[in-house]
Amino acid sequence: MQDPAHVHLAYTPTSETLDFAAKQGWRVSSYRDGGVEPRAQLLRSVAGADAVLTMLTQRVDEEFLQASGPQLRVVANMAVGFDNFDVAALSRHRVYGTNTPGVVDAATADLTMALILSAARRVAEGDRFLRTGVPWSWRPDMLVGMDISAGRVLGIVGLGRIGMAVARRARAFDLRVIATGRAATGAAARELGVEPVDLPDLLRRADVVTLHCPLTPETHHLIGREELASMKAGAILVNTSRGAVVDEQALVDALRSGGIRSAGLDVFEHEPMVHSGLLELENVVLAPHLGSAGDRTRQCMADRAMRNVAAVLSGRHPEDSVCP
Ligand code: GLV
Ligand code: GLV
Repeated sequence: MQDPAHVHLAYTPTSETLDFAAKQGWRVSSYRDGGVEPRAQLLRSVAGADAVLTMLTQRVDEEFLQASGPQLRVVANMAVGFDNFDVAALSRHRVYGTNTPGVVDAATADLTMALILSAARRVAEGDRFLRTGVPWSWRPDMLVGMDISAGRVLGIVGLGRIGMAVARRARAFDLRVIATGRAATGAAARELGVEPVDLPDLLRRADVVTLHCPLTPETHHLIGREELASMKAGAILVNTSRGAVVDEQALVDALRSGGIRSAGLDVFEHEPMVHSGLLELENVVLAPHLGSAGDRTRQCMADRAMRNVAAVLSGRHPEDSVCP
């Protein structure tokens, strides 16, 4: 009889995920100390594994693939983004890489709306203000923000699945939606009243710019000094995609100088480090990469990653293959 496949989970999974794995008849190992397995330990744990389930903070590169060994068949990322994958290295080793598209759309769009509303209506600023304990009473000029439901324009950069989920929500807020990206000229976008535009046009017209493209060499610093300068003076920038899509230093400078009004950020260029300039500014609302951190969403991501592992180990092409 064949030895059972060794599947390594590079984090501390839920009991639901462990039960699923046990039912597959795999030999399962996982990180026991809570959270995400650190690099040094990860490189030891993957030795001899046939499949590894990885997190978006774990680099899957030549070193990882060497540490695993030639029997490795699939690395399943528990994320829709896979900028942590060296896709060329995975392809060279003939190892499948998979992600978890679809299951994070609603949660990420919800958080995007939360950041848009917080940045526009100064929710975090108000919270910080109250916690200082200074005496206050209602006054008409207190923490006045931007109305977003007054026919304001929302610019979605990279209209894909998540961007579409944002566009659907934006409609309920009476925002006018303009967008760049592959889906912007499609029928679904047209039905939602989305106007397709190019990036310079979007930046010039949008009151709120929200980013939903993957991080690739082409989108690295897509929003830099020039792009920020071309935005409306009172505009808001929201990022729930990947930090490095924005030149963070340029953003700090634009927020400081009033070049733009405010920002809502869930992701950072050098995560987990947050630029000290952002921490000092009042007109930024920050979240620690919580886009997909919904109770049901998290389990759906794990289930989806496990299904991809199961497909490869049973000789099928995985549903969410990103390479080869
Ligand atoms: C989260 O950032 C994801 O890519 O799923
Ligand atoms: C974005 O994540 C997309 O699926 O387009």
